Amino acid sequence: MRGYFGKKTAIVAALLASTSMAMAEDVEVLHWWTSGGEAAALNVLKDDLAAKTIGWVDMPVAGGGGEAAMTTLRARVTAGDAPTAVQMLGFDILDWAAEGKLANLNTVATEEGWDAVVPAALQAFAKVDGNWVSAPVNVHSTNWVWANKSVLDGLGIAQPTTWEEFVAAMQAVKDSGKTALAHGGQAWQEATMFDGVVLSVGGVEFYKKAFIDLDPAALGSEQMTEAFNRMATLRGFVDDNFSGRDWNLASAMVINNEAAFQIMGDWAKGEFLKAGKVPGTDFLCFRVPGSQGMVAFNSDQFAMFAQAEAGAQTAQGEMARAIMAPSFQSAFNVVKGSVPARTDVPNDAFDDCGKKGMAELAEAASAGTLVGSIAHGHANKAAVKNAIYDVVTAHFNGEYDAATATTNLVSAIEAAQ
Ligand code: GAL
Repeated sequence: MRGYFGKKTAIVAALLASTSMAMAEDVEVLHWWTSGGEAAALNVLKDDLAAKTIGWVDMPVAGGGGEAAMTTLRARVTAGDAPTAVQMLGFDILDWAAEGKLANLNTVATEEGWDAVVPAALQAFAKVDGNWVSAPVNVHSTNWVWANKSVLDGLGIAQPTTWEEFVAAMQAVKDSGKTALAHGGQAWQEATMFDGVVLSVGGVEFYKKAFIDLDPAALGSEQMTEAFNRMATLRGFVDDNFSGRDWNLASAMVINNEAAFQIMGDWAKGEFLKAGKVPGTDFLCFRVPGSQGMVAFNSDQFAMFAQAEAGAQTAQGEMARAIMAPSFQSAFNVVKGSVPARTDVPNDAFDDCGKKGMAELAEAASAGTLVGSIAHGHANKAAVKNAIYDVVTAHFNGEYDAATATTNLVSAIEAAQ
């Protein structure tokens, strides 16, 4: 009898162990969502996975745009210790796939019908050689302006629709003694403003020729010098303490009535919402004047790194399935400031800025005015992106004039290819 029970207990214990391995395996998630709004959105994901008994091991690496996170990731993979899932942008996903480090998500993707609902612009970065390697959680776009409504109303400033009106509005704010443009002096933030500025100067055609095709003539053109001139104009409207400031602290300046405008991707909206602010009442969202009808996008995806253990593979697949569920895409993106990464999610739960973002994304996709963000890794591979960062930030910080910036851009991009 003793032997029987002993054996049975051992079998039950083994069963429990294997079940709990398959059911409650942890996912280790490397990400850079550390601001208040980002953390709130991340909690939506953590809670969703917890309800599915998928454990969460947090690996945050602060720094917008993800440069620091990508450095940490490289070190982890080199040490043979890749995290399960990694927040990743555009060309970085393709690079890791080319290195053969990513898992194959085709089983879940087929079961869930991802091919039919994920926009082609995102599939270009989520699928490699016909295989799904990452799960897109959102679509952000960078050519937005966030404005404090009461500051504008108090000065009698209407929402600007042209670049000239925008400059005049910033001048009026500056004359009033407030900061016109809230900005954090970090290369990726300057590059984020550059996305919208390039579109405002030459539209989608110029943007594509210069930054997607890397055509030297477009890169070295007078239009490019005009883009740098506009960046210098923006530099004239930031406060004295902008150097090194984090983007969410710049958002806080607009939220707290210290500044009128911020040019930033729609993750900034997450900060406004976290502070209890309401679009249309407390703040305005509009496209960088001159870039209306165009969308520079970036999509956060969770690239899944190949795992040896079956339990880890299961958890990874379930995380990908959870991320792509329509109800999750709505709940998460409402908080994050982005819009869903699938075309069939209703817009009911989204505020006015979110509804606008969803409609404009769909319109831009069909009109051919949707372009990958230069600043956020959807126009070029990292080496080229970083070369652009260097020139844009050096010029913004007064190291050289617009004409020299144009010349340097051509040579920096040539050297980076
Ligand atoms: C972007 C990312 C966004 C947001 C932002 C600032 O690269 O796509 O989700 O987190 O950085 O951290």
